[in-house]
Amino acid sequence: MSAFIVLGAQWGDEGKGKMTDYLAEDADVVVRFQGGNNAGHTVEVGDKQYKLHLIPSGILYDDKVNVIGNGVVVDPKALFEEIEYLEGVGVKVTPEKLMISDRAQLIMPYHKTLDRLKEKARGKNDIGTTGKGIGPCYTDKFERCGIRVCDLMHPEVFEEKLRENMEAKNLYITKVLGGEAENFEETLKMYLEFGKKLKPFVKDTSVKVYDSIKEDKNVLFEGAQGMLLDIDYGTYPYVTSSNTTAGGVVSGSGVGPTMITNAVGIAKAYTTRVGKGPFPTELLDETGDWIREKGHEYGVTTGRSRRCGWLDLVILKTTVRVSGLTSLAVTKIDTLAGLDKIKVCVGYEFNGEVIDYFPASLEDLAECKPVYEEFDGWDESVADARSYEELPENAKKYIERIEEFTGTRISIVSVGPKRDQTMRVKEL
Ligand code: GDP
Ligand code: IMO
Ligand code: MG
Repeated sequence: MSAFIVLGAQWGDEGKGKMTDYLAEDADVVVRFQGGNNAGHTVEVGDKQYKLHLIPSGILYDDKVNVIGNGVVVDPKALFEEIEYLEGVGVKVTPEKLMISDRAQLIMPYHKTLDRLKEKARGKNDIGTTGKGIGPCYTDKFERCGIRVCDLMHPEVFEEKLRENMEAKNLYITKVLGGEAENFEETLKMYLEFGKKLKPFVKDTSVKVYDSIKEDKNVLFEGAQGMLLDIDYGTYPYVTSSNTTAGGVVSGSGVGPTMITNAVGIAKAYTTRVGKGPFPTELLDETGDWIREKGHEYGVTTGRSRRCGWLDLVILKTTVRVSGLTSLAVTKIDTLAGLDKIKVCVGYEFNGEVIDYFPASLEDLAECKPVYEEFDGWDESVADARSYEELPENAKKYIERIEEFTGTRISIVSVGPKRDQTMRVKEL
């Protein structure tokens, strides 16, 4: 039995899509357990590039079952657009390959409107969300007025819940946020149509995931976002609205913690962040611009440019602790090739001492000054390496320092976006 988690160890976009695709070769089931189509996961196979948002990256294989778990927020419009996109590029999406939890919450048009208008109302204190309605949908879930996929399977129940919600939301949208009321009949008609199309995909996915693990199949849990976007352990309030850490797997897919065998944190060889919020090792200079261009650091979901900075080992150490990581996979070692010197943050100077944990308060974090170690760079030959031995010596030193500082082995090293630009170094 193997049930392993793939998680983002930084602020998202670490290469989870690529790593899920790589590891999915040995998996039978791939499960998304939180987030929604705010995610943007890129997979490159041969000369083809795929961009996934809501559907697990295992969909590119024909023989894997892909699960959208109960912890995910599902925008049916975005889902069917993604299915259409995949079918258009030759990837089959059938009810045998894709299962959607009957307990998943639905993103409604008013969630997207609320996301947009609330961001506007925050003014200069906006979060910089993706605008996909994620926060408002999770808000309704915990307010206990959300509408779930199973409700859509009962049109009369759905209609009643929609009516109640839209009365309240329209009032809030028009009276408080100065927006325009949305049409109930139109929304009802649109979603009832979605319901009919969704039906064949809808299952109690917790049963499927549990049975698969019990039957000795390999189950891979594909995280979205990253550690520092976690609603509890991220840079609150500049976070997403779900648990992106390992705890989210259990509640978001309906299996117990004792069934999980490994958790792999995906870490970029440097750090990036999209949207607003603190970023201690951010480079607001030419080096930051150089990394952005070399690493094509532009968002998959919103196209926004990603902020770039040096690798922060304080962050990785925190992720190891909070998610109980059994190993780390390091991506984009090739992007740093060509730099003469590379810096790595190994602590924060705070109140006259050096700390190696991530503070909760943004005010404290603003006081933290990164303490750097400097490494000699490596050349472009790194992209051709297919085994650890073939990596340039300086790249090995860099990787070994990450292992030493975090107390966690590096199981995989990635030197390019393609499936075959990946080397397995140690056990997961
Ligand atoms: P995700 O959200 O974690 O799945 O990551 P994204 O897909 O948003 O961003 C990662 C980007 O880096 C994608 O364009 C990947 O194709 C690319 N990528 C992943 N691993 C590597 C690597 O080792 N080297 C290079 N150069 N690109 C990579
Ligand atoms: P993947 O899975 C990077 C960020 C947004 C914003 C904050 C809140 O591709 O790594 P939200 O729309 O979730 O309410 O936005 O979270 N964010 C991401 N940043 N990668 C992602 O996903 C992200 N999903 C959300 O930019 O700062
Ligand atoms: Mg991404």
